[in-house]
Amino acid sequence: MKTVDILLLGAGGREHALLKKLAESSHAGRLYVAPGNGGMLQLAELAPVNQDDPKQVAEWAQDNNIGLVVVGPEAPLVEGVADAVRAKGIPCFGPNADAARMEGSKEFAKQVMARANVPTAAYQSFTDKDECVAYVTKLDGPCVIKADGLAAGKGVIVAQTTQEALDGVDLCFDGAFGDAGKTVVVEEMLEGPECSLLALTDGTTVVPLATSQDHKRAYDGDKGPNTGGMGVYSPVPEHLVSTDALDAMVDVMKRVVAQLKYDGITYSGCLYGGFMLTKDGPKVLEFNARFGDPETQVVLPRMHADLVDVFLACDNGTLDSASITWGDDWAVSVVLASAGYPGSYESGKVITGIGDAARMDGITVYHAGTKLDDAGNVLTAGGRVLDVTAVAPTFAQARAKAYEACELIDFEGKQFRTDIGARAL
Ligand code: AMP
Ligand code: GLY
Repeated sequence: MKTVDILLLGAGGREHALLKKLAESSHAGRLYVAPGNGGMLQLAELAPVNQDDPKQVAEWAQDNNIGLVVVGPEAPLVEGVADAVRAKGIPCFGPNADAARMEGSKEFAKQVMARANVPTAAYQSFTDKDECVAYVTKLDGPCVIKADGLAAGKGVIVAQTTQEALDGVDLCFDGAFGDAGKTVVVEEMLEGPECSLLALTDGTTVVPLATSQDHKRAYDGDKGPNTGGMGVYSPVPEHLVSTDALDAMVDVMKRVVAQLKYDGITYSGCLYGGFMLTKDGPKVLEFNARFGDPETQVVLPRMHADLVDVFLACDNGTLDSASITWGDDWAVSVVLASAGYPGSYESGKVITGIGDAARMDGITVYHAGTKLDDAGNVLTAGGRVLDVTAVAPTFAQARAKAYEACELIDFEGKQFRTDIGARAL
């Protein structure tokens, strides 16, 4: 196979990890990113397109002889960027808009799960606020309120009390999440440890990737507000996810893809399953139509595969013949965030020590919210700034090394959790 020029959409640590893995492929030609970040722009050229505009992305890709478009985040997928790219005859990694509804509409995902007989929290959905208020009042206990549509990770309210639930219902129906909150899903509250499983699929073949565990709360001990994720490790050890539980999770991923196919929808790309490991077995919390962030930053470094070949195989329906193997090493990734995150924070702080950390054996520093200034300095430009990932033969070594590397990097206001993976030790 000759090389293909690649356009990668997105700007987070996930996309930096995807870009690095794509760049390692012998089939990668020129690499373009839109909009990218400080780390990605050291590896790839900037493509002057709005990642959420299907027409612009597809036309630019055609004009520049792009042979593969890779979509990182969910918003462009839900907007139909993959459809527009494929309509030009250009291979694309990521589901079309109909399949991306698995993330774009929680109610749609619930209906697919019900048809596929997949275990998930019991739920009711509402488009009328008064009916929703009446239902939540009658429940009179813990529940989870979810805005139906995309809400940048903020549309889920885990309510311990009826008052918290009613406040959540207010938020959704009063427009805090725009149109995403016009339909509201009220779910039974599940309990247990969480575990994510990513799977690649071409719509028929489903290849599960490694398990991982994200740490969503801002502070040590799972305290503080929810964030996009403060750290992650992979794989999740047996004492947290048994072989039976893992088999059940893989079965869920296969059943959902098969159900969509039966419904006339080809799901091509990465399907992210978020699970709660309840005492009755794994139950689905959510599906995402893309790789997880920061899960990707620990899963991809452990995966042995030519990512360009694998992504093309997802697009053209030949994933059954792709080669993907795993090392038996462990990966731990710690997020370095700006002071104040997930609330308001300052940007533009000079970051030092990335090179020293990256020169450590087994360490990769993925950029998330960073930018380059004219002199080539790396500056903070987001809440989550860097993902410091260590890969090592044992979990304890990976964890110790990740934290050693975190100490070498500095910027004003650097904040991070010191207990990533503590439960797995
Ligand atoms: P989601 O975006 O749907 O994954 O929700 C974000 C977070 O909310 C999850 O990672 C869980 O921690 C929590 N969550 C979502 N649904 C439930 C549920 N039914 N029961 C308990 N916690 C939940
Ligand atoms: N780490 C959670 C997500 O990617 O949605």
